[in-house]
Amino acid sequence: MSQNIAAEPLPLASRQVQGLKGRIRVPGDKSMSHRALMFGAVAIGETTIRGLLEAEDVINTAKAMSALGAAAKRGADGVWRVQGVGVAGLRSPAVPLDFGNSGTGVRLAMGLMATTPLTARCVGDASLSKRPMGRVTVPLSEFGARFETAEGGRLPLTLHGAKHAVPVTYRLPVASAQVKSAVLLAGLNTPGQTTVIEPTPTRDHTERMLKGFGARISVEQKDDGRHISIEGQHELQAQAIDVPGDPSSAAFPMVAALITEGSDIVIENIMLNPTRTGLIDTLIEMGGDITIENRRLAGGEEVGDLHVRASKLRGITVPAARAPSMIDEYPVLSVAAAFADGTTRMEGLEELRVKESDRLAAVEAGLKANGVTTRSGRDWLEVDGGGAQGSKLGGGTVVTHMDHRIAMSFLVMGLASAKETRVDDSRFIATSFPDFTGLMNGMGARIS
Ligand code: S3P
Repeated sequence: MSQNIAAEPLPLASRQVQGLKGRIRVPGDKSMSHRALMFGAVAIGETTIRGLLEAEDVINTAKAMSALGAAAKRGADGVWRVQGVGVAGLRSPAVPLDFGNSGTGVRLAMGLMATTPLTARCVGDASLSKRPMGRVTVPLSEFGARFETAEGGRLPLTLHGAKHAVPVTYRLPVASAQVKSAVLLAGLNTPGQTTVIEPTPTRDHTERMLKGFGARISVEQKDDGRHISIEGQHELQAQAIDVPGDPSSAAFPMVAALITEGSDIVIENIMLNPTRTGLIDTLIEMGGDITIENRRLAGGEEVGDLHVRASKLRGITVPAARAPSMIDEYPVLSVAAAFADGTTRMEGLEELRVKESDRLAAVEAGLKANGVTTRSGRDWLEVDGGGAQGSKLGGGTVVTHMDHRIAMSFLVMGLASAKETRVDDSRFIATSFPDFTGLMNGMGARIS
């Protein structure tokens, strides 16, 4: 169990309400927060980070960077400061690096460490220890790194970084920003040019932010996908980074407002990078009344305020090509689908099987427990909508499998269901959205 997650499960229940109201801000983007800490750690000088997501997953990354020699600390002013040590400056940590629940934390950090001659033990919680790591150890071994892993190539593992790293050209076998990022980060301390070929575009925060840090990185669209190349062994320069609100966290109040009658809310300062906005597009296509106000640029990313009003939704087919731009949002989209008229079909979901839980199975079980009819296959899910206001829905207890997004999704479901919904364990919400319950209840939700 990660250091700050309580030892005992923490059940929560959520009850039907009407008219969520308010202007809220959700915490900083998780993907950008991990990256700001890690890139700051290998830059020259002091990187400052405003709006860092102060949640378990990201705090574990900050601790890992400190253990590798790049002190990352929060100031009394709420600004985080990272003392960068340069692309070749990380050193062997004296303690195991505990990444808790975070796949992004451990996979990106493995990339960062893989081409520096250090030894690091990487551990995580029971959920993370079940997730596949071969997807990063395989390409990182090509650079010359070595790994001693638990069975099936999983955590806990010991990484031995390459002494004389060789550059790699790697074509991604899965649509994963984590794998792409791990390879690019390994390229930072490798002589010559490292290239990742990405057939299906995934979130591009690594490319954008590395460019901001002064990395020699280029992106070229070719017939077989995006070719992202990095020239290694050039130093990065410390940056001042402002992290906007996380669209994957905004997804929960957004769906809550759409499905509870009479709601009208504004979620301010949300990052709107086009590789992350698949859920907004999908909900609008379903008839959701979502408008983006005050569009602006902040820290190299487009941001805006989301104005969301209760809406009558209709079922649609969500194409597989959209999956990478909303991969973390399918659990809460499935909840929205339960309140739509007609059936929603979601395709291209194979990666959902290897998240913090098997999210396809966990979502389907949770919906079934709350009276929703579903059908599924290896990589698809169909949800039959119950129509207006879920008159027959709710009454079930959802098994969350140490998965924050399963817990938050079903707490959102209860807000519009006739009978209360319960989750068996809400502790893991702390990994990404520590004040979820307070923020939701502040708008009129009844989660307790
Ligand atoms: C992330 C990438 C996605 C996503 C995760 C964050 C990132 O994982 O699910 O929550 O910050 O790069 P995959 O790259 O495995 O799809």
